[in-house]
Amino acid sequence: MNTQVKQCSCVKESDREKYDRIEKVIEEYRDREGSLIQILHIAQGIYGYLPMELQQFIAQKLDVPLSKVYGVVTFYSFFSTKPRGENTIRVCLGTACYVRGGKKIVDKLRELLGIDVGDTTQDRKFTLEVMRCIGACGLAPAMTINDKVYKQVNPDKLQDIVEKYY
Ligand code: FES
Repeated sequence: MNTQVKQCSCVKESDREKYDRIEKVIEEYRDREGSLIQILHIAQGIYGYLPMELQQFIAQKLDVPLSKVYGVVTFYSFFSTKPRGENTIRVCLGTACYVRGGKKIVDKLRELLGIDVGDTTQDRKFTLEVMRCIGACGLAPAMTINDKVYKQVNPDKLQDIVEKYY
């Protein structure tokens, strides 16, 4: 079965509405100190991520070089140029978690979700990332899904954990 979703005018309209909202934000913030970071932050909140077209749009509206916008976006790790999932899974690969099987958790999640670290599932449900120690070393291996911390994670239980988010 072909599950590819066709682009329809309603999707385009929704994108246009987002751009309109971002344009209003640009007008509101443009003369404030540190406006570029604030605008990018809000734009990411509205659009979900910061694709190149959106960076170009912001650069043009602010009358600054695209290289300046791109430089800020790539400097700060909280900006993303790729679509992100509704849920972010972060597996700890700090020393304690690594030693107690953190890598096996990453491998199992890659297999279950069909994506690599740093990527997002096609249905935009999950983004998979790794991170350093989150202070739960005594109960390693640990991972988080959004704000929830999972400790002593058993790779065989990952499917059940992930399914709760569907
Ligand atoms: S190393 Fe993973 S919680 Fe500390």
